[in-house]
Amino acid sequence: MSEPPPRFDADFAEQFMALLRWRRDVRHFDSRPVAQADMEALLASTAFTPSVGNAQPWRFVRLRSPAIRATLAAHVDEVNARAAKAYAGQDRHDAYLSLKLHGLREAPELMAVFCDEKAEAGHGLGIATMPEMLRYSCVLAIHTLWLAARSRGIGLGWVSILDPPAVHALLDVPADWSLIALLCIGYPADLSDVPELESRGWQSREPWRDRLFER
Ligand SMILES: Cc1cc2nc3c(=O)[nH]c(=O)nc-3n(C[C@H](O)[C@H](O)[C@H](O)COP(=O)(O)O)c2cc1C
Repeated sequence: MSEPPPRFDADFAEQFMALLRWRRDVRHFDSRPVAQADMEALLASTAFTPSVGNAQPWRFVRLRSPAIRATLAAHVDEVNARAAKAYAGQDRHDAYLSLKLHGLREAPELMAVFCDEKAEAGHGLGIATMPEMLRYSCVLAIHTLWLAARSRGIGLGWVSILDPPAVHALLDVPADWSLIALLCIGYPADLSDVPELESRGWQSREPWRDRLFER
């Protein structure tokens, strides 16, 4: 070990809870760019993520091309319009249509996250019966990045209203990579400790005790 382990005191624990409480899924961004050093710090944070067999199967694709951005935004709008039809005739239809479900046109940074299903690192450890562990590891990397971003005042929005094969083809990535997420990254237009879906009456957070079962 290169340095003595840090002691995380009660103040830190409280701050950490505040970070969790004030992390938001962000769909409204202001126009400030994210500094290259901050982007690198966020990506560096993902190296500390736990992963099955230490396989580190996450692959981040930073999207630079305005043409790719425009195509993705149009694609998500189209998939979203199709998804909205599932609510047709229901009370929630108008509410669904009023939700803003991505910031693909405004966010200064877009990142696609893939799982390398054939990752060599890890040598297959831990995935013989549960290969999905590779994908779960990628989700953890995203959560690491999400918290690291929020700790720097940077917001992240996870977009999943899309057709994975279409995104895969558009980004021209290896066949063994499966799409995990499309992320919008930038400074949030506003800050809240309440999820947007809760403040808009779609779905509130529920008590954690309701999610606990004992046997
Ligand atoms: C796997 C995953 C997929 C999501 N996909 C979308 C999405 O496509 N569009 C969207 O607006 N929000 C998406 N979200 C954000 C959720 O709506 C949000 O996390 C939830 O409402 C709780 O709000 P909070 O993250 O601000 O606490 C996604 C979140 C996760 C974890």
